Amino acid sequence: MKPVNIGLLGLGTVGCGTINVLSRNSSEITRRAGREIIVKRIAVKDIAKQRNVDMGAVEITDDAYSVINDPDIAIIVELIGGESPVYDYFVQSLQKGKHVVTANKELIANRGNELFKLAQKHSVVIAFEAAVGGGISIIKALREGLTGNRIQSLVGIINGTSNFILSGMKEKQCSFEEMLAEAQELGYAEADPVFDVEGVDAAHKLTILAAVAYGVPLQLNGVYQEGISSVTSQDMQYADELGFEIKPMAITTRNDAGIEMRVHPCLVPQKRLIANVNGVMNAILVTGDAVGPTLYYGAGAGSEPTASAVVADLVDVVRTLTTDPENRVPHLAFQPNSLTEIPIVPIKDACTSYYLRMNAVNRAGVLAEITKILGDLQISIESVIQKGSGENEEMLPVVMVTQNTVEHKMNLALQKIQEYSMVVGDITRIRMENMA
Ligand code: HSE
Repeated sequence: MKPVNIGLLGLGTVGCGTINVLSRNSSEITRRAGREIIVKRIAVKDIAKQRNVDMGAVEITDDAYSVINDPDIAIIVELIGGESPVYDYFVQSLQKGKHVVTANKELIANRGNELFKLAQKHSVVIAFEAAVGGGISIIKALREGLTGNRIQSLVGIINGTSNFILSGMKEKQCSFEEMLAEAQELGYAEADPVFDVEGVDAAHKLTILAAVAYGVPLQLNGVYQEGISSVTSQDMQYADELGFEIKPMAITTRNDAGIEMRVHPCLVPQKRLIANVNGVMNAILVTGDAVGPTLYYGAGAGSEPTASAVVADLVDVVRTLTTDPENRVPHLAFQPNSLTEIPIVPIKDACTSYYLRMNAVNRAGVLAEITKILGDLQISIESVIQKGSGENEEMLPVVMVTQNTVEHKMNLALQKIQEYSMVVGDITRIRMENMA
């Protein structure tokens, strides 16, 4: 069969990885796809920039539209990221009847609903495996492998950079800043690392996962986001003493009230597999009613791991070039006219246990007063650690673990404890998941 020409938009970390993987494994990839995949043209911002990749005879341009409008190119691979100007590139590509492969979680989470409609109108596909979990085939698993299930929950570490930072802070006793700089150097972090450390990137990915898992439209504004930048090594040490790790978690569950979607640091029992996922690795625990819990693990960021997902999508798209558009796997796993609206449960109604840390004046009755505030709100305490080096100490750090309670009750309790004059400074609150 005739080779398929593709065009690349962007030649950064993932773009170079994609060229390298396509070239190194070309014969295996051709045997799988049934046709050779040839990179015909690449658009970059800066043609003069030195890149660690052998581009052979590939044409390089700084005009993205010359790639999109090239009549010999059937598939556009977008690896620039962000919404602007990429949204316009997508629209033009789809209108020209080109399929698009992308790693762009921000664009899919924000504009996917309309872009999928446009793709459907023009009988083309947008493939986005590389947008979530780097090299892990989680979209494929949800859209195809688990289609017999009603998905009940999905709990994961889906931002490699924040996992790399928190694991490094614990293992190497490094500062947050040192680990962030290392993640940037290794090409894991987003162009704006705030996206990684404040939970924005994970929220984009969770939006996509929840839509594919439950057959609901993409709803980024329904995701509660909280970053890892306020986690301290002191909290990690206390968590360790309690038998927990602090992990950057993304969680979505479905119950009678609706769908919960939240991204936040979280204490996870050390005995759970996911608590032992370190560095840039990602892991996603998907629970379906038929299959039970299933765990997906792999590199969540990086050049070739992400390229692995890009190339897998390319092979899928090449195979569909000759299929009837009606028989393709739907973008969000469910037929587009069968997506349902399920209410989003607000974070104030989420139910979790909590780790609390505060500095209290070392005086008789202070701990009793704090526990009374919690007790009056029916918040039950699981354990307490009071760290003191003697009775002459003026202030004592108090660490508490509560049992499950609804978030709005905890907010009220924290407000009352914070108002108590014997508690000095801000109270740290980190949610916990037992994942039993
Ligand atoms: N910055 C992202 C991460 C890259 O750290 O997970 C992969 O999406």
